[in-house]
Amino acid sequence: MKVLVTGAAGFIGFHTIKKLLQSGHNVLGFDTINEYYNTSLKYDRLNEIGIDRDKIFDNEYTDSHKFKAFRFIKMDLSQKSAIMDLFRDEKFDTVIHLAAQAGVRYSIENPDAYIKSNIDGFFNILEACRHYPVKHLTYASSSSVYGNNKTVPFSVDHNVDKPISLYAATKKSNELMAHTYSHLYKIPTTGLRFFTVYGPWGRPDMAPSLFTNAIINNRPLKIFNNGDMERDFTYIDDIVDGIIKVNEAPPIIDPKKAPYALHNIGNSTPVKLMDFINCIEKHVGAIAKKTFLPMQPGDVQQTYADISSITNAVGYIPKTNIETGVKHFVNWYISYELKQQQTSTGIINTSKKAIL
Ligand SMILES: NC(=O)c1ccc[n+]([C@@H]2O[C@H](COP(=O)([O-])OP(=O)(O)OC[C@H]3O[C@@H](n4cnc5c(N)ncnc54)[C@H](O)[C@@H]3O)[C@@H](O)[C@H]2O)c1
Repeated sequence: MKVLVTGAAGFIGFHTIKKLLQSGHNVLGFDTINEYYNTSLKYDRLNEIGIDRDKIFDNEYTDSHKFKAFRFIKMDLSQKSAIMDLFRDEKFDTVIHLAAQAGVRYSIENPDAYIKSNIDGFFNILEACRHYPVKHLTYASSSSVYGNNKTVPFSVDHNVDKPISLYAATKKSNELMAHTYSHLYKIPTTGLRFFTVYGPWGRPDMAPSLFTNAIINNRPLKIFNNGDMERDFTYIDDIVDGIIKVNEAPPIIDPKKAPYALHNIGNSTPVKLMDFINCIEKHVGAIAKKTFLPMQPGDVQQTYADISSITNAVGYIPKTNIETGVKHFVNWYISYELKQQQTSTGIINTSKKAIL
């Protein structure tokens, strides 16, 4: 299949592309490489899949030197006519739309970025799928749509009309917009509500990286809601497995209803935040200095996915427990940090090397 993956330089997009290429698909990666977090991590991810930083130019294709079936294009979701041309020229079989302005806390200070990328940008992808039909559009939603819902596990059948952050509101809007396009234009769409994804090459703004970084550098880590939180942490390999299964199984076109599906994709085993931190401490081999703080605006106390709909639809079963996932993540984090440090100073900090 010829697959467009947006958010290609991002955490989940990068891993998804790697897996698609290993399975023999032809892939175009799309990303604007925004500066929400350090772009060097994004360029390093792209480099892993054969895209050289110095060969990337706005709105131009870059060939991978590692995978014949992979090309990358640096393009922004706001460029509607360029996106239309891209869809017209490429004739994608399927689209995996992961590009978005992510992050709950950032949406409090920077609301504009969310409207531009997650609302206008999503609309542009829908319009392109309408004019240049694809067999399936799979897109990223989020567990944050559940807001302060108290009934757990969170089910796709629960009402989610009360988002508590603009980020969540944009993701819920995407689900509504997708339904409209599935209904009106028979575009098969599937929304995936991701639950706190972690693993190697993970996002530096998320708890696993923030915690590991603070422990390694002996800085206090900020623990919100005094640690009284639970998250359904989901390992990246399980997420990618689910995305790929879903991509290959579009909702059936039936004259009586819209070809529309929506699933939670989580681990379905919530973990107490303090247990997660203990697990990181164990694998780093150091104890964290902890600063306990109140709840952050927009944050939720608990997430817990009911995954029955995705299990029934495509046989998704998460396989990675926290112990194994955190071990892989911490090992990657420390070796990546050491490499960065060595590149910039030529010296390895021996206390960190000892940790590794
Ligand atoms: N990681 C998680 O735990 C999690 C949880 C829930 C939902 N999600 C959603 O999953 C998707 C992927 O998340 P991620 O963790 O890989 O995030 P990420 O920030 O690492 O990746 C997103 C990528 O999208 C790109 N992007 C943003 N705006 C763009 C625009 N206007 N045009 C083109 N590219 C643009 C960014 O440059 C970035 O590389 C996002 O839609 C996110 O909201 C992630």
